[in-house]
Amino acid sequence: MKHPLLFVARSLAVALLVASSLPASAQLPAPRRGGPPPPPPLVPQFGDPLPGLSLTELQVFVDGRNDFVQPETIASGLGPVFNNVSCVACHHEPAVGGSSRITVTRYGRSVNGVFDPLTAKGGTLLHQFSINPAVREVIPPEANVIAHRRTTPLFGLGLIEAIPDSVIRQNAQLAKPDGVKGKIATITDVASGQPRVGRFGWKAQHATLLSFAADAYLNEMGITSRFFPHDIAPNGNTNVLHLFDTVADPEDVVDATGKGDVDRVADFMRLLGAPPALALTAAAQAGQTLFSQAGCAVCHTPSFTTGTSPVAALNNKTVPLYSDLLLHDMGTLGDGIAQSAAGPREMKTPPLWGLRGNPFFLHDGRAETVDQAIRAHDGEAAVAKGRYLQLTPAQKQQLLEFLHSL
Ligand code: HEC
Ligand code: HEC
Repeated sequence: MKHPLLFVARSLAVALLVASSLPASAQLPAPRRGGPPPPPPLVPQFGDPLPGLSLTELQVFVDGRNDFVQPETIASGLGPVFNNVSCVACHHEPAVGGSSRITVTRYGRSVNGVFDPLTAKGGTLLHQFSINPAVREVIPPEANVIAHRRTTPLFGLGLIEAIPDSVIRQNAQLAKPDGVKGKIATITDVASGQPRVGRFGWKAQHATLLSFAADAYLNEMGITSRFFPHDIAPNGNTNVLHLFDTVADPEDVVDATGKGDVDRVADFMRLLGAPPALALTAAAQAGQTLFSQAGCAVCHTPSFTTGTSPVAALNNKTVPLYSDLLLHDMGTLGDGIAQSAAGPREMKTPPLWGLRGNPFFLHDGRAETVDQAIRAHDGEAAVAKGRYLQLTPAQKQQLLEFLHSL
């Protein structure tokens, strides 16, 4: 045990988490004869809080996690249209806060390369379920672009949030080889109203976890908040809203401390630890060199450093995310949807840390293996993909082993 306080904090977090996530009968471990049970190992796991949190911060993490796993009901404001009943219902592999095979559907209409989000028909996000069959959404017949987006993991997002806009901008301005450009996603942050550098979502559509949480509460579950005070009109039809929207808006209300579910869930994501990296084997080390030589690191930037933060665990930390957080023209790999700052062919470089925890790969999950994901790279990534294809089978294996360790 290196640091007794860290150890106490970790044990407490584990105890609290276990107590809040298991049925009552399973909460207490069986007492062992001959003294207390051995301490749990300190090896970091997917789903752990950031290392080094204070006890107060750990409590905030646990409170937020409880909201993250809490199912919404019609009485709490679910719907009228929605995609699932809780955050964890989609974000759970390989641990709470992770990804899953669940995808959501986006649609729109493209005419002569101009994208129409079909806003009047409720575009671009399809809500798969409704609290009443009368308000069930359909993909409008005029839609000619339909794209699926897979659930992304949330591990380490507090560290990504803490990377200053200026750091992402400086990296974007560096000259890049292989015809790679990379565009900063300048967006207006919903929570603060400020112009910011977007970094979350496949289209880099949000800059802060609070904005993403409020967006997800509304768009995935139909829960309104102070940031999004109006329920979604099913397929754009506001006339039916009053019939099926019985809970007063905003449905997420703040308590005496000034926090609502959106704030607590944002806090949980902010304090959720980074994916645990594996020690690099000799083969993985060789793969790391090949990764840079092939030009992968031009977009999958190995690391950034966070700015100053009042949370010590987020303050001036190295973030080995393997992403530049920029939008790239990915050619045929683009999803065809224009959203926020991103055009139809533009996608944000996804972080590669924790890759081994994902059940499948690329924005729509079309790749069952990492090898397939690399082979589907196109547009600005065509040159790097070409270099990957030139590697010998043994070198490809080394590169894949490196990616598996992140
Ligand atoms: C129906 C399934 C579903 C539910 C429910 C859901 N999500 Fe997601 N989540 C997704 C998908 C799909 C994406 C990728 C969306 C995109 O970028 O278009 C995503 C992306 C995210 C991201 C961006 C991650 C990144 O690295 O860029 C955050 C943050 C997030 N979700 C938080 C939440 C929170 C908080 C909740 C609950 C309030 C929630 N999600 C509920 C499916 C879901
Ligand atoms: C031009 C920038 C760029 C370059 C260069 C690049 N990538 Fe990517 N990479 C992306 C983008 C953007 C995506 C997401 C594309 C999508 O899903 O639509 C991606 C996705 C991935 C994924 C899937 C991640 C996931 O979570 O599904 C892997 C793995 C990956 N890249 C590895 C590599 C490797 C290995 C190389 C070098 C041979 C490479 N990339 C070069 C931009 C790039």
